[in-house]
Amino acid sequence: MPAARIRRWPRLRRGAPRPPAQASSKDVVVGRSALALRNSANAPRPWVAEAMKQLAARPMDGESRVIELENGKVGYVETIVTQKMCLTCHGTQLAPPVAKALKARYPADRATGFKEGDFRGVVWAEISR
Ligand code: HEC
Repeated sequence: MPAARIRRWPRLRRGAPRPPAQASSKDVVVGRSALALRNSANAPRPWVAEAMKQLAARPMDGESRVIELENGKVGYVETIVTQKMCLTCHGTQLAPPVAKALKARYPADRATGFKEGDFRGVVWAEISR
């Protein structure tokens, strides 16, 4: 089951700042995405963008959708809501060293200014049958 697989990757959901590529395999591709991105490499696939619009309208942590994709694959997407600890790097008032490090590494960063409970993004998976 896709949902069960996703739950085995708590680091992805907790916002571990690492690209999730190493969690992917031939049959399952996983990623994180958001409406306001820090890393443009996390830009959503079209079906993920569409699902995010719906999920963001009423953010509920862990809310998920299973979507039949045109290529015969199955898409799984799950809401990540901003928690208090996320504000260190995604909040409105960042500590100067954090702000400096983010600016150096992600000059196009749009992923700040969040509050606890805001829709932060999703974790998604594309699964071959
Ligand atoms: C120590 C700083 C730090 C903390 C704390 C943090 N993040 Fe992030 N976050 C980052 C960095 C850096 C990236 C870009 C990493 C990458 O390349 O995917 C990122 C990227 C993301 C992304 C991928 C989309 C994008 O904007 O590129 C999501 C979703 C996300 N964070 C959610 C969270 C959530 C939810 C929490 C709290 C549970 C959290 N983060 C806590 C630093 C942090």
